Amino acid sequence: MTAFSNTMIALYAFMLFSAARAGDTVVKGTSLTVTGTGMLSLPADCATIVVAIEADAPTALDAQRRASSVTSDVFAVLADLKATRVSTNSVSINAVYNYTATPAIITGFSAQTTISFQTTKDGAGPAVDATIAKGITTLQSITFSANPDKYASASKKASAAAVQDALNQANNAALPLKLCVSSITSISLNAQPQNSGRPPMYFAKSAGSDAGTTLQAGDISATASADVVVQLGTKCI
Ligand SMILES: *[C@@H]1O[C@H](CO)[C@@H](O)[C@H](O)[C@H]1NC(C)=O
Repeated sequence: MTAFSNTMIALYAFMLFSAARAGDTVVKGTSLTVTGTGMLSLPADCATIVVAIEADAPTALDAQRRASSVTSDVFAVLADLKATRVSTNSVSINAVYNYTATPAIITGFSAQTTISFQTTKDGAGPAVDATIAKGITTLQSITFSANPDKYASASKKASAAAVQDALNQANNAALPLKLCVSSITSISLNAQPQNSGRPPMYFAKSAGSDAGTTLQAGDISATASADVVVQLGTKCI
């Protein structure tokens, strides 16, 4: 009988232990790492435009004078159009060679000036047309963006959505185990800055078309991701 009693006690103790385990909110060692993503779209407010002027002449001085003349005209028309952040990005002069001659001989000079500026979203097309009319030779890029404050607010919402997405994923993964997220160990947020993953529209071709430029600004996306480490248990948060 003694052996039987001992067995009963051992079994009872095991059942008590099991009951205690089931009451635990966290199952020890059951951590889960998930990555959630969040995205919010918002309309574009402004455009950043980069244009280039190239002028050739037999001498470096003449090439530079011709490029400068077009540059002043472009600055004047941009002032009329109330463009903002107008700046000269680069100025350079290159010798132009005839490589079929041996040795290669300098046949002239080419002066380049690159200018960037900002306009409202709707002002981009007219500004491009106006700078083409003043003699720019290349429309390098147009990047649409949202107002920075609006982007910051959208970015916060995208971050919150990323955390929620991560928690949803964790709860879905825990479902077959009859568990759920019972605590959060860590959250690592990564919100993308504006235009980081969004290449500007590039225009490789030379400017000079007579038709008015029609630009369709797409929506801007604020995106964020969240790496979340959670503990799974039976008491859900
Ligand atoms: C380049 O040099 C070659 C050889 O001297 C000549 O035949 C040709 O006309 C030159 N081309 C130009 C564009 O100057």
